[in-house]
Amino acid sequence: MKAEASPNIAFIKYWGKLPAKSDAERNLGANPSLSLTLSRAKTTTLVEAVKAAESVEVELELNGKPASEGDELKVRAHIQRIVTQFGAEPQRFRVQTANNFPTGVGIASSASGFAALTVAAAGEILGRDKTEKMLREDSPLLVELARRGSGSACRSLAGPFVKWEGRVAQRMNIDWPLRDTILILTKDHKSVPSSEGHTRAPTSPHFEARQKRLPARLAAVEAALAARDLGRLGPLLEEEALDMHEVAGTTMPPTDYLLPETRKLLKLFAESRQRDFYFTLDAGPNFHIISEKPVTKDLERFLDKAGVKAETWEDSWGRGATLLPEGA
Ligand code: PMV
Repeated sequence: MKAEASPNIAFIKYWGKLPAKSDAERNLGANPSLSLTLSRAKTTTLVEAVKAAESVEVELELNGKPASEGDELKVRAHIQRIVTQFGAEPQRFRVQTANNFPTGVGIASSASGFAALTVAAAGEILGRDKTEKMLREDSPLLVELARRGSGSACRSLAGPFVKWEGRVAQRMNIDWPLRDTILILTKDHKSVPSSEGHTRAPTSPHFEARQKRLPARLAAVEAALAARDLGRLGPLLEEEALDMHEVAGTTMPPTDYLLPETRKLLKLFAESRQRDFYFTLDAGPNFHIISEKPVTKDLERFLDKAGVKAETWEDSWGRGATLLPEGA
């Protein structure tokens, strides 16, 4: 069956995990997080059982090309998880997955990738009706499976706003058509994968203090979302992004995800107080600009002033993963 999922951008970041003694405890965030699910960027994934097998086997195509052994192993392990969870027979699965957005541009492809893979595999194993019901109901089982693939993937199952806390990820009862304009300063792959960043996070002297600050910031973000008040939400997003990068930059060893161009723009953002657009950053140097209205023109002025060149990807709120109709 074929499924589609979009990436999400965290307003409160998952940065640091709880220690895990088993696969069931994989990727439990050290703190609750909250994100906006996008809609234009998409991963589309087909999972098709081709024949019975002694153990789960996978043939994987990524963006139309045979995948590397490493990627195939990750996908196999994930499908194995799903087969075990649903008590299904092992089979050989054909998996074809493609992104409509370029990789390494600050759009988290692991979130949309594991969300789409989880939903497509569940659809293939359990059937359409059961899987769609699980999606509608923010099924804890689906959340659990997506999270074990990649933590932030559990927030891409639903939308537009999802709060993830421990084993639960649930859509919030808020409709607010926010935009995310991504400023792509570089397409280079990030130097330190987020899995390594999570492991390093607790070694930062700022980690504990951040954990203590987060409950109040999360509550303030939830209140600003409920009031649909961008003037209140924006500064919280910026403070949170800088907080996460302060932790990343002070771990042992430190992880500096930012480029000189990122810092130039950060300075300009700090100097420009009268704005109706606000930034957040993921584990990378590219900006996500959150706004209600289109901001391409404002951003062009900003980039000119800073003497920085960037491409943009315009995205906006979405409603989460879906199974695609037969023949799509
Ligand atoms: O799900 P992961 O392991 O790719 O981690 C995501 C980490 C951040 O994108 C930086 C923050 C987040 O909450 O999405």
